[in-house]
This record gives sequence, C-alpha cells and structure tokens, in this order.
Amino acid sequence: MVQARDAFQSRGHYAPLANKLAEIVRGHRESSSLDLLDAGAGTGYYLNQILGASNASYHDALALDISRYAMRRAAKLPHTLALVWDVWRRLPSADASRDVVLNCFAPHNPAEFRRVLRDHGLCIVVTGEPDHLNEVIEPLDMLSVADGKLASLVEKFDANDFQLKHTEQLTYQMDLNTEDLYNLAFMGPAGHHLQPEKLRNKVQSLGEQRVTASFGVHAFIPKA
Ligand SMILES: C[S@@+](CC[C@H](N)C(=O)[O-])C[C@H]1O[C@@H](n2cnc3c(N)ncnc32)[C@H](O)[C@@H]1O
Repeated sequence: MVQARDAFQSRGHYAPLANKLAEIVRGHRESSSLDLLDAGAGTGYYLNQILGASNASYHDALALDISRYAMRRAAKLPHTLALVWDVWRRLPSADASRDVVLNCFAPHNPAEFRRVLRDHGLCIVVTGEPDHLNEVIEPLDMLSVADGKLASLVEKFDANDFQLKHTEQLTYQMDLNTEDLYNLAFMGPAGHHLQPEKLRNKVQSLGEQRVTASFGVHAFIPKA
C-alpha cells in the first residue's frame, strides 16, 4: 500500500494539493525557522513539498506514522526525523515546540496537536470530500475516504482550544491511466482487502478514466 501511494503521488496527481499546503504554510507567518510535525505522514509527500517551498533558513520536521514501511521512506526526507508512532498516544514533541502540525487523511488528535503547537502556530487538516474519486469508488471496490461533516471536525477542534481560520475545497479532474488506477485503489483503505490479480483485471477492463479529486483543506489556529 505504501509503495502504491508513493508511485501514485510521484506521478503528480496530488501536486495541486501539495502546492496548496505549501502556499498556506508560507503565507501563515514570516519566520527564519520552521518546526513541523506531520501526524500520519505516510511517505511524507506533503511534508517534503512544504519543506521544499519554505523560505525559512532552519527546518526541523517530525514525521509520525504507525507504518514502519511509510516511515522508512519519510526518513529519507531532508531535515526530517521519522518515527513509527501511534498518533493517539502522547506525541513525542515538547509543549509549544511546533509552528505547524499537518494532518492529511489521517487520525486526528486535536488535544495533542494543540499541546505541541506554539500559540502562533497553524494546524492544517486535510479531508476527502464526498465527491472525491466518486467515478471509481464502486467499479474498483474502493472504500470512500470522505470524512464526516466539517461541523463535527470544527467541534472536535473547538473543544481543544482551536478556532477555524480558513477552510476551502480543492476540486479538480485527474486523467488516470490503468497503472494509476491500480495504485489509487491499492493505496486506499480497501488496499488491505483487494487481491492484486483481480484488481489488475478490473482496471484493464475499465481503461483510462477522468477522475475527480476533491479535498477539504482546513486551517486551525489556537484560540486567542
Ligand atoms: C490515507 S494515509 C495518508 C498518508 C499521508 N498523510 C498522505 O496523505 O499521503 C493514512 C496514514 O495514516 C496512518 N495511520 C493510521 N492510523 C494511525 C495511527 N493511529 N497513528 C499513526 N498513523 C496512523 C497510516 O499508516 C497511513 O500512512
């Protein structure tokens, strides 16, 4: 699944999201240093894009994920310490030690995100919108990654001393070939159950597809 995610992301299909995240971080605050924490980082694709686009002269990034295979890849990123870690646990970062907490399609632990974030910090949460990948969810036996409603996310973060600063939906079309479709299905939550040969046959009979990418990008800041 990690290999499939890496292959899919390296084809640039999620680059508009990576650029958007890098732009939000860059626009948040002028500073000579940037301490980041990515909770549920996967291979660190978004973390890497943010680091690459940052104007800061000093970077310190902590990538956390429960998958050791993901962390082996994230450990190769510049300025990054990658740890196999359950984000439901106390996070391995001091109080008020991070400028940015990133949390893309991964479990949220707002109490811990708030503890490790500085008062001027930013927590960016990315979720899948209901129309994300809708053309291929059923034909490829995928599970929808759409999260619950924004209101319940805001409620969870509000209860942990966060306020919503900015929210936007990023939606665009991706032209995917059969290899992309195979990787897309395999890297998602259904990847645990899919049989590679069956999936290969399915993507071959489906052929190239135009597929919707639709993300909710939510930026939270500590309450004043
Ligand atoms: C859909 S992937 C997203 C990965 C990465 N953020 C990205 O967008 O490319 C979800 C990630 O959350 C990780 N994950 C799931 N439960 C976790 C937990 N309790 N603690 C840490 N990581 C977790 C998975 O291993 C997986 O890498």
